[in-house]
Amino acid sequence: MLNQLYYDRILNDLLNFQVSPYLKPRTQTLRRSTPEDGSAAKHFIGLSNPAKTAFSHSAIADEEEAALPGLIRMDYGENALASPNALHQSLFEAFSKFQLLSDESNCDDAIFDLVQKRLGITASPKSQLVYGNGEAPLFAALTNHARNASIAMLFPTGNYGHFVACAQAFGVSTNFIETHEKDFFKVTSETLEIALKKLNAPAWLVLTAPIVNPTGASYSAAELKQLLVVLKKYRSVLILDTIFQGLEFNTLPGIETTFSDQQDNRWIILGGISKEFAGGGLRFGYALTSDIEMIGALQNSAIAEPHSTLRYAFRRLLEAQLDEDPLLLKEMSRQKIELKDRATKLADVLNRNGWKVLTPQGGLFLVAKPTTILNRQYNGTLVSEENLASLLRQHGGVSINPPKWTGIPHYFRFVLSMQSEEFVEALKRLEKFYQALS
Ligand SMILES: Cc1ncc(COP(=O)(O)O)c(C=O)c1O
Repeated sequence: MLNQLYYDRILNDLLNFQVSPYLKPRTQTLRRSTPEDGSAAKHFIGLSNPAKTAFSHSAIADEEEAALPGLIRMDYGENALASPNALHQSLFEAFSKFQLLSDESNCDDAIFDLVQKRLGITASPKSQLVYGNGEAPLFAALTNHARNASIAMLFPTGNYGHFVACAQAFGVSTNFIETHEKDFFKVTSETLEIALKKLNAPAWLVLTAPIVNPTGASYSAAELKQLLVVLKKYRSVLILDTIFQGLEFNTLPGIETTFSDQQDNRWIILGGISKEFAGGGLRFGYALTSDIEMIGALQNSAIAEPHSTLRYAFRRLLEAQLDEDPLLLKEMSRQKIELKDRATKLADVLNRNGWKVLTPQGGLFLVAKPTTILNRQYNGTLVSEENLASLLRQHGGVSINPPKWTGIPHYFRFVLSMQSEEFVEALKRLEKFYQALS
């Protein structure tokens, strides 16, 4: 009986893999740094300049405050919606297997089929798949190589703050492509060419696409192809982070054929399961490329591979997706409907309460610009673009990402994919905050 309870508990723990900081109320208060008398400081070597720059990036610097108890985190881009049953089933199956043969936990074919279906890439004898515990360590390995080889990285204004902070921490030269509202803050062939000309050296373009974090904009196959043409002209590489693919609100994934005739370009595709399958706590990511330098960068950095149990589970899940398992498709489409519905509700609340929203086309977030909020008073404090996120956090109880995080001037990011009660409460808090302004 005790044995049964014990294994039941372990199985539950294993299946309960989603990252949720809200499961237990936090009882401890955070330890704040205390002033020192200065004698220790004399011996402290201090942080390197790259580390100082990275740690002052909003993605890292704001984390402690944003995670304080009682706040609703609209700044945290994880997917806390229900993960599909097929994922639970495949995990259950993987854990219940007595022994796994190496073929059984080989995801290569399933991933090649997926990228073929979604991006038009056909595996060639040169293609390689490298796995990591999430996409993040794969990106870090590439960044490390960029630093060692003195390669500059290019990010659009409108980027994933943590990857910029990562590049800064490694001391990579980080450069930004100016994007415009009329283009939905997407990179165009013109803006890319301007940036590459200015840089005057081959670079690595880091693009979250087809669905963009933070705007929820969507790149078409034609737009991505145009970027590849420019990159080729400047002997530059595309790092395509596809982590939000599959979360398009209106189109079906799998109709794009971006890379079908682009085999001679230099690119690397990054993907994972944390967003589409709401599996952030299961660390699983992959990189696909046939570029020799990129393969070398990944292979030289000794990235830890996901456990074979996880690889087995992910292979089974992907196969269900490729076979168009009706139950899985239904759950995935329900998730998209829920996200789209939340985007509409949030946009409605924001547009009525001092913000101008840019309607997203997919993903887990939207961006909005404060309009009639600015230059009003909250309890005697004048609201400005600089203090808005912290006023909202301190007095409104909601954490959001400021423009320094998104990289887009004036635009803040709001995440949609928290638990449903929190989402409802967040809408109320945003309204209440606006009403309290004088
Ligand atoms: C654009 C983007 N890329 C990568 C990641 C990290 O992916 P993983 O959980 O697989 O490390 C995130 C996480 O929020 C993200 O927003």
